[in-house]
Amino acid sequence: MRKGLIWVLILLMITVGTLAGCVKTKEVENEAIFTAGTYEGEGQGHAGVVKASVTVSETKIEKIDLVEFHESEFAVEPADQLVAKILKANSGEVDGIAGASLTSKGILEAVNAALAKAYLEGASTAATTEAAKEAVKLEDRTTDVVIIGAGGAGLTAAIEATQNGANVIVVEKMPMVGGNTKYATGGLNAAETSVQKEKGIDDTVEIFIEDTMKGGGNLNNPELVKVLAENSAGTVEWLMGLGADLTDIGRMGGASKDRTHRPTGGAPVGQHIVDVLYAQSQELGIEILLESTVVEILGDSSQVSGVTVETADGNYNINAKAVIVASGGFGANNDLVAQFDPALKGYGTTNHPGATGDVIEFAKNIDVAYVDMEQIQTHPTVMPSNNYMITEAVRGNGAILVNREAKRFVNELDTRAVVSDALLAQENASGYLFFDQSVRESLSAIEGYYKKGFLIEGATLEEIAGKLDIDAATLQITIDTYNGYVADETDPEFSRQSMARTLSVGPYYAVEVAPAVHHTMGGLMINTNGEVVNSSDAVIKGLYAAGEVTGGVHGNNRLGGNAMADITIFGRIAGKNAALSIK
Ligand code: FAD
Ligand code: FUM
Repeated sequence: MRKGLIWVLILLMITVGTLAGCVKTKEVENEAIFTAGTYEGEGQGHAGVVKASVTVSETKIEKIDLVEFHESEFAVEPADQLVAKILKANSGEVDGIAGASLTSKGILEAVNAALAKAYLEGASTAATTEAAKEAVKLEDRTTDVVIIGAGGAGLTAAIEATQNGANVIVVEKMPMVGGNTKYATGGLNAAETSVQKEKGIDDTVEIFIEDTMKGGGNLNNPELVKVLAENSAGTVEWLMGLGADLTDIGRMGGASKDRTHRPTGGAPVGQHIVDVLYAQSQELGIEILLESTVVEILGDSSQVSGVTVETADGNYNINAKAVIVASGGFGANNDLVAQFDPALKGYGTTNHPGATGDVIEFAKNIDVAYVDMEQIQTHPTVMPSNNYMITEAVRGNGAILVNREAKRFVNELDTRAVVSDALLAQENASGYLFFDQSVRESLSAIEGYYKKGFLIEGATLEEIAGKLDIDAATLQITIDTYNGYVADETDPEFSRQSMARTLSVGPYYAVEVAPAVHHTMGGLMINTNGEVVNSSDAVIKGLYAAGEVTGGVHGNNRLGGNAMADITIFGRIAGKNAALSIK
């Protein structure tokens, strides 16, 4: 059922509700529904009470201030989005923000409690009845290529399609571009690049393929992995040609060579790449529609012809010769995650709130084939208090993991599946990521964590052990032993291969970490041309996909840094082939 229809039904139900229990909706052409003034209401969020101060005129919600708000930093952006949504709808009767359900619940309770005080007696029925009309049908549009999602894959595909002569419209449901891509931190994997060569790193495409297949439990589609590895160096050059800085190189879990490319000093990769791609798309004049949700792909299992878009102002179709699905994964939709892997029910996530997998759901209508849907990855080093991911690059640059016995318990640079399981087996199902000043200085992403106040700091090992409430003498032995392994270049306990530096320069830092849902490896089945296939294994004409919405590249476990490669490489392939197909 379409969102618009659900909305109509909800509104109709509201009209028969009581004044106290139900919330009225939308402004009706200059009809007074509120007593003008400022009202306060209270709700219960994820981390405590949320208090809202709501100012209304007779017809409109004018302003909402969250005067008490204890939610995590990660919830601030969704909270702003929800407040904007309420103001736009002129109603507290809106859906919460996916991925921030408890925060949304608290805000909606608080706003609606305030609005309940503001509503005029008797205004509800007229207002809701008037608002309960069918979604407005707006004028349809036509283009060559329509792209669903303005994350890394979507923006990359848009650039390639435009450069290959197509008119392109990108449709993005969130109020901003970037999706999960803007959160990417550790880097982008590529082999045989000019940057590696300059640094004397003897990596090869073959070793990249071996690492990726091994990391994915050999469940990966080898043809897609070959395309990934063979096109990785070319895509790094392409990105650098657009102005990207990918000149720092580090190591991520499961890699046997240093191949994770990132900006100078080890700065986060994602926002930088989004900025570069967005600037290029603006230069090319590509149209990007924000706050516009694709709710249907038009066509059938043999050929597609466009999409239906839902906006606050109404619905319309974009008729197109080709559709590229670049809508990302579903890590922020815990219901869907738990449907495929029940063990992950209730887990937190590192993902942005829009990673809900709606396209994956409604693409069923055109009989797409799905692959590896149950393969869902947790990232091991996520702060349990706020779901903030601490990049694997910190371990790549030398950090270790210790438990509450002050001991190491795993090869910190094993794959995410292995490290996550090892963490879950510790007391409190968590551990401490531990490093020293030299690691901090090696990776500028750490400065961000420091400034945010995430790091527990101790001038000496004894001081930090006290702050973590772990045994100082054992910690000293753990660190001395590890430093010995670094000097000997061998780790007889856990076989860690890459040990970038000793941990011997104070101050020392630690942060509590535990696994959270991070990447959905499964999705739409594609071939090496980026074409989507149907359940009879035939290509669906005109339908392409790229990025986290697809399955098959990563098998049962994606290696750190391989998603940024995946989305840019297959984004380019899908964009180019979609444009060429319509010529
Ligand atoms: P996204 O970037 O998520 O973009 C999809 C877009 O589609 C979103 O903007 C979404 O709002 C939009 N959309 C969804 N549904 C609709 C709809 N129905 N209508 C319109 N628009 C829609 N990988 C690495 O390789 N290296 C890293 O360092 C790294 N770090 C990461 C750190 C974090 C915190 C996270 C969460 C992920 C990280 N990853 C990393 C993984 C990587 O960032 C993602 O897999 C990748 O960015 C996904 O790109 P995408 O373009 O497929 O999807
Ligand atoms: O830890 C990270 O920086 C995440 C990397 C990734 O998901 O590839």
